[in-house]
Amino acid sequence: MEDLGAVVWPPEPVRTGRLVLRASEIRDRAAFIELLASPEVHAYLGGPRPRDELEREMPGAPERWPGSFVVDLDGAMIGQILLRRATGHRRPAAAGKIDLGYLFLPRAWGFGYAAEACAAALGWLAGALPGEPVVLTTQSANAGSMRLAAKLGFTEVERFEAWGAEQWLGMRSPATSSG
Ligand SMILES: CC(C)(COP(=O)(O)OP(=O)(O)OC[C@H]1O[C@@H](n2cnc3c(N)ncnc32)[C@H](O)[C@@H]1OP(=O)(O)O)[C@@H](O)C(=O)NCCC(=O)NCCS
Repeated sequence: MEDLGAVVWPPEPVRTGRLVLRASEIRDRAAFIELLASPEVHAYLGGPRPRDELEREMPGAPERWPGSFVVDLDGAMIGQILLRRATGHRRPAAAGKIDLGYLFLPRAWGFGYAAEACAAALGWLAGALPGEPVVLTTQSANAGSMRLAAKLGFTEVERFEAWGAEQWLGMRSPATSSG
């Protein structure tokens, strides 16, 4: 995976009805550690990272790269959206395409924030890099993620076995993005 490269970054904050999407800042560090150390968040993502390792290694403003959005609710981070170039993806259908990922703190689940934020991020992407399809890989057992992918307009390309589980590869065409 690579960052988005030639986009204006940090971007103008993207505002939705309830949320702001922005580049990360020093004040987000504690929330990033909580996110990356959470067993619940990483139940379908190969497990969390040790908190002491994160405390030691995480830079002041974490994950500050083109395509990494902090999702902010009332001034506090509740999640991260990752838009990356899937170079070297193991499935040819996804290789080189833009890949969407999302991680939200468990206390923010179930309020529609993920759907609201991801739709806004995809809208931003359609402006920044027009005409590109977007892919998404998730474990098919991850019911919340599967539902979110469908809600965002991703449709199944294929299922495959990797990392000890069935994976779902979905794609969202540029036509969906502008529709
Ligand atoms: C996946 C995740 C972002 C969903 O967050 P969320 O806040 O529940 O999402 P939303 O509230 O926007 O819900 C989106 C849809 O998914 C549904 N949904 C959410 N969790 C669900 C679950 N466990 N089972 C079934 N449906 C679920 C919601 O009901 C909603 O559908 P609806 O509008 O038809 O009711 C969140 O659970 C998360 O961060 N998980 C850990 C990280 C992860 O697994 N990421 C996927 C890797 S790319």
